Amino acid sequence: MKINLSVDQEKCIKCYSCIAECPFDLINEDKEGFPQLRKAALRRCIRCGHCMAVCGADALDITISPLASSALVDKNVLPSSQAVEQLLKSRRSIRTYKKRPVDHAVLAKILDVSRYAPSAHNCQSVHWVMVEDPAEVQKLAGLVVEYMREIKVFPGLIRAWDQGVDKVLRGAPHLAICHADPGKSEHPVEDCTLATAYLDLSANSHGLGSCWAGFLVQAFKLYQPLIDALALPESHTVYTALMLGYPKFNYRHIPQRDDARVTWR
Ligand SMILES: Cc1cc2nc3c(=O)[nH]c(=O)nc-3n(C[C@H](O)[C@H](O)[C@H](O)COP(=O)(O)O)c2cc1C
Repeated sequence: MKINLSVDQEKCIKCYSCIAECPFDLINEDKEGFPQLRKAALRRCIRCGHCMAVCGADALDITISPLASSALVDKNVLPSSQAVEQLLKSRRSIRTYKKRPVDHAVLAKILDVSRYAPSAHNCQSVHWVMVEDPAEVQKLAGLVVEYMREIKVFPGLIRAWDQGVDKVLRGAPHLAICHADPGKSEHPVEDCTLATAYLDLSANSHGLGSCWAGFLVQAFKLYQPLIDALALPESHTVYTALMLGYPKFNYRHIPQRDDARVTWR
């Protein structure tokens, strides 16, 4: 990978935040004490862009994340800790959705935000299939039910389906399916889980409801007709999936959860 780091010596105050924050110690000082990229960066740089992003003087530029196209952190729009706490605690798994579809732009926006979830070695291994068409979501739910019928599990859920009630994907109009090539990340489960958690919370911040689709992910592991229906690249595995839509009901209370189990040392 070609990579070039340039330092504006007029601006650099030699604070060395770039050196301290580089995850693999790929920056050191040149003879005059300015930061420079070590040769090892060619092999080991994970393209995180932290060196450029942490520089308080805008003195450092790097080809893998150019300064000019990297947005400034806008502290004025950051939510308070209280607002974040409410968002996190009030998020619920939604199991009844309105038929009203979500605008394409909103779905695109939350997918865009999900790109900023952490990933192992910044490998950004995550891919998505966003099923926008509610009929397609229902088709996938039907295939999961077919699978359950075949392996004789969840009879109640099958009965409900036969009576026109979808307890697999809950009649959600949309479904985000998260997949990755396990050969492209050391931690694809974590990469996909975190990206989906970001998608989930971002969806909530837009007034959407969501629910993790565990039944579907299980079926993806084993049921060929479902695998065929999705037609992912052969090396890819589905790790997580999220139902999405506008919630029919609003939750008034935050339900109780267990106390944090922590050993303080
Ligand atoms: C990996 C995972 C898979 C899940 N799969 C399903 C599912 O298939 N159907 C469902 O209704 N809820 C599913 N859930 C939602 C959980 O049941 C829910 O998070 C839990 O009951 C707590 O409720 P809350 O999310 O509203 O706090 C899943 C959650 C996780 C983390």
